[in-house]
Amino acid sequence: MSEFAELSLGDKKYQFPVITGSEDEKAIDIAKLRDETGHITIDSGYKNTGATKSAITFLDGELGILRYRGYSIEELAEKASFLEVAYLLIYGELPTTAQYAEFENSIKMHTIVNEDMRKIFEGFPVNAHPMGVLSAMVCAMSAFYTGDKSGSDELNIIRLMAKMPSMATWSYKKSQGHPVNYPNNSLDYCSNFLNMMFALPVAPYQVNPVVSAALNKLLILHADHEQNCSTSTVRLVGSSHASLYASISAGINALSGPLHGGANQEVIEMLEAIKEDGGDTSKYIAMAKDKNSGFRLMGFGHRVYKNFDPRARIIKKAADDVLAALGINDPVLKIASELEAAALSDEYFVARKLYPNVDFYSGIIYRALGIPTDMFTVMFAIGRLPGWIAQWKEMKANKEPIGRPRQVYVGATERAYVSMSERA
Ligand code: CMC
Repeated sequence: MSEFAELSLGDKKYQFPVITGSEDEKAIDIAKLRDETGHITIDSGYKNTGATKSAITFLDGELGILRYRGYSIEELAEKASFLEVAYLLIYGELPTTAQYAEFENSIKMHTIVNEDMRKIFEGFPVNAHPMGVLSAMVCAMSAFYTGDKSGSDELNIIRLMAKMPSMATWSYKKSQGHPVNYPNNSLDYCSNFLNMMFALPVAPYQVNPVVSAALNKLLILHADHEQNCSTSTVRLVGSSHASLYASISAGINALSGPLHGGANQEVIEMLEAIKEDGGDTSKYIAMAKDKNSGFRLMGFGHRVYKNFDPRARIIKKAADDVLAALGINDPVLKIASELEAAALSDEYFVARKLYPNVDFYSGIIYRALGIPTDMFTVMFAIGRLPGWIAQWKEMKANKEPIGRPRQVYVGATERAYVSMSERA
């Protein structure tokens, strides 16, 4: 054992190996802790617990670094297409021209969703939240697409990448009272999604390259983020050997929460509420600092980024560019900038290292692209899909054991049953 950590418990000492990641990240390997000491560790919210060794995404929260398979998020967001990044995450390397063409073509071969799935969809109320609908539809895929007889998940991976955008647009179409659109496979991934969202039988949709490029960038920025809440959920569900569809559906549900992906919808709603209330940002900063108010500044703070979120920097610039290119003057952008400036100079936020996260400005861009507010988190899910798939695949390839944390029991000790008539 070259490097180790020593633990003293009573008069005994125990040694545990230190393992080092490829970016010099250090971890104490406690796999034998309970066998050797009879103790477990407790770490609410897994703030200090590594659940796996992963080769997919590197993130340094102090330095604000994010890399997919070694490539910086800045470079990928600037130069790559979303499908290229999806391939990189899922298969480990950037695709060659031939590999890319094959990947894109196989996705195009599977964009149509089984018509019988529409019958399930028709049963949802018109105002159902699209995240609930999406997770149910993805889960239902396990009943319709039973997979490759060889036991490989390759076809399921392609089907998910192909059909999730198609199904995601159904909720929007229904909310508008419009018929759903079928995919148009002559379009690229992002343009196809936009066409399914916005084309009408009476008015074909002309894909605006500014809009399509902005969507491409947003999806790349969301594509993976190592062991966050939804990704850990996908790995945990998959560790029981549940299907890829069941695992991804669970990930969509985890993402829907306002502390995670649901924050992008909450941010716009918060900015709108501040605008309606006269635009006094200081009032909301004060509320966010008051623990009794129950109010948090949505789009601020992050479990791992403690200096800045590199995705937020890219998105802020993209928001400015997109709004300028589309000639949109969104009044909430001014409120967002004021709120950001006020928070960044406020002792409460500085001391807690609370900075704008990826969700702070993404809603402003989505809105400029014409995406309705309750679809924002669905957009996040479409972006995160290749990351979830890659993490699920890695978990399987590593033959990871079923995820099963322990606990420290703090409930009642043994007591005798009292019949109902004798209870006070
Ligand atoms: N507004 C006001 N105070 C905050 C905020 C906020 N947005 N975020 C954290 N704090 C305070 C918190 O009250 C605590 O204060 P104290 O130490 O006095 O008790 C301190 O900062 C640390 O917060 P925490 O809740 O212990 O930190 P966490 O790592 O458990 O939570 C977080 C991280 C992202 C859930 C949290 O910052 C938050 O709720 N942010 C708002 C929701 C949001 O924007 N979520 C999107 C995250 S990025 C995209 C994604 O993950 O999907």
